[in-house]
Order: sequence, then structure tokens, then C-alpha cells
Amino acid sequence: MKRFGETVAVDSATFSIDRGEVVGFLGPNGAGKTTTMRLLTQYLEPDGGSITIDGLSLEDHPIELRRRIGYLPETNPLYRDMLAGEYISFMGRLRGMSPGEIRARTDDVVAETGIEAVYYRPINQLSKGYRQRVGLAQAILSEPEILILDEPTEGLDPNQRVEIRSLIRDVGADRTVLLSTHVMQEVRKTCSRVVIINRGHIVADGSVDELVAGHGGARIIVELEAPPDDARDALADLPSVARTEALEEEAGRARFAVEGAPGRDPRADISRLAAARDWPLWELHLAQASLEDLFRQLTVSAAPTEEGAGDAAEGGTEDGAQRVETDPAGEEVEA
Ligand SMILES: Nc1ncnc2c1ncn2[C@@H]1O[C@H](COP(=O)(O)OP(=O)(O)O)[C@@H](O)[C@H]1O
Ligand SMILES: [Mg+2]
Repeated sequence: MKRFGETVAVDSATFSIDRGEVVGFLGPNGAGKTTTMRLLTQYLEPDGGSITIDGLSLEDHPIELRRRIGYLPETNPLYRDMLAGEYISFMGRLRGMSPGEIRARTDDVVAETGIEAVYYRPINQLSKGYRQRVGLAQAILSEPEILILDEPTEGLDPNQRVEIRSLIRDVGADRTVLLSTHVMQEVRKTCSRVVIINRGHIVADGSVDELVAGHGGARIIVELEAPPDDARDALADLPSVARTEALEEEAGRARFAVEGAPGRDPRADISRLAAARDWPLWELHLAQASLEDLFRQLTVSAAPTEEGAGDAAEGGTEDGAQRVETDPAGEEVEA
């Protein structure tokens, strides 16, 4: 746990990430994302409790874990006078790498992140997109298995966003990635799973579809070229469908918002139904609104209870999972 004066920034947080997974760490501003990431990367010390990563306690294995975790912090104005190359080797030294190790790795990370042209330029002269590339270069310098990226696409224009997302996919390919964001769309585009944090508590943990489905079923938009009443009855008869709502009709095509039965996504059933009845299927998609609704519900409503946070924290650990815990037990010390 971490306190700043009276504020408990992060209370307990336990979640597991499978190797090779890209997990979105989602929460509104001030939820505790940056604080959690700083705790995991040893830029902050917990005021109580313990932090365990992959079965290793941070307290007992600080050096080893520092090398095994690459970290892209939120923009840090401190180092902006440094040249890009200087910054990369400076961060390598902070992580305990020797000058020889740093030299041996630099060419690779510079090529991997495409920063050859800016290597000798001061960081404060770089575009935000290039600054993030340099940040990613230093993050992968020690060949870490785990990457922790704090709002990596924040403040980028749409083109830079696409580039950085694709770079994250590349450098994250064989790694475990935890990526924070307060933008839901980012999660859909980049992440296989999401952990939602609110006021220092984990309030949800699962795949996007699972979370949405577990939350009263998936909401599906469907457009069929069919007699509206027949289509509606047929949809309502599907066992995976809980509710069907007719939307506006257009040019002989009937539109519906369909809610899946709890835990069910009816899309496969709907496409089979359309094929069986020979109804052209013009549209079939999971409504974006549902994840946004869930996010709002989880992060705007009353503060979560201890039980709620505890349940969410029990997310299954599969074999080979990397488990990250900050345990609330222990002395509470003022920062
Ligand atoms: N250095 C600090 N001093 C005082 N309060 C802080 C500090 N850093 C964070 N906080 C507070 O801790 C809470 C969590 O902040 P943070 O982890 O930065 O959230 P996020 O990254 O999710 O936006 C907020 O209430 C924030 O105001
Ligand atoms: Mg933050």
C-alpha cells in the first residue's frame, strides 16, 4: 500500500498476467495506476505490505527484479537535456547494467525502436512520438521479460499513436506487458486483457469480452434484411439472447440491440440464424458502449467495498502466470 499524506493512493492490488500477454491497466485519472507502476519498478517504496512479482519478493530480490522489468515512465522532464543515447545508457546504469552490457545492447534497441536518426539529439528537441520510442528503447535495454508502460500513447497525435501501438506490439511480442491508460479504446486496440483500478483498488480483471459478458451479457448490434417481427421473434428465441430491442428500420433492414444472456456472447448464434433463414446479415458487432458502461459503473459509483476488491483480486493464476501483488497487510506508515 502507498499513502501520500492522507491519501491512500494504492491499497491492495493482486492480479496475474500470463507470459506474453498484453494487459491494459485501466482507470480514471488519479486511480493509482502510476503509483502502482512506480511501486513495481522500485521508484517508490511501499508504506506497508509486500510486493511479489513472479513469486519473488521485491524486498528480497530488488536488483534481479529491476533487470527483469523494463519501465516506460510518464513523461519525465528531469532528463530532457540529455541526448537520447546518453539517456538510454544512463537508464541502463540505473538498472545495474555494466558499460559493456550497455554497449552490447545499444545497437539492437536503437534499431528495434527506429531511433537511429535522433540518437545524438537532446530529448527536449524530439517529438513526443520519438520521445516515446527512446523511452521504449531504454525500457528493453536489459532484455526484460516484463514491460511496464505508463500511458505510452498519451499526448500523441493519431499517426504517432498507431506507430507506437505497433512498436509496442513488436517489442512486447515475447514479453509480458502491463500498459496503463485512461482511454478505453486503447485497451480494445492493444490489450488481450484488462485490469481496472479505481481509488487504489482493483475492481475488475479479465478479458474485455469476459468482463462485458459477465456484466449482464454482451450488447450486440445486429442488422438483418428480414421482416422485422420475424427477425425479432427469432432473435428472442435464441438461448444465448436475454433481451432484444428494436432500433430504427432502414430500407427493409431491421436493426436490433441484443443483450446476451449472462456470460454469453450471442454473435455466433445470430450469424447461424441469419444463414439458416437466408436473411442477409448487414451488421453484427459488439457495441463499444458496453465496456464504457462497465468502466463508468465500476469507477464512478460508490467506493468499492473490501469484499469487492478481494473478489476481483482472486483472478485465476494459470501455469506460467506472472503474479503481481501488493499486500495491504503490515504497518501503515505516513509518507
Ligand atoms: N507524489 C504525490 N504526492 C501526493 N499525492 C500523490 C502523489 N502521487 C500521486 N498522488 C495521489 O495518489 C492518487 C493516485 O495517483 P496516480 O497513481 O498518479 O494515479 P493515475 O496514474 O491513475 O492517474 C491520486 O489521488 C494522486 O493525487
Ligand atoms: Mg498516471
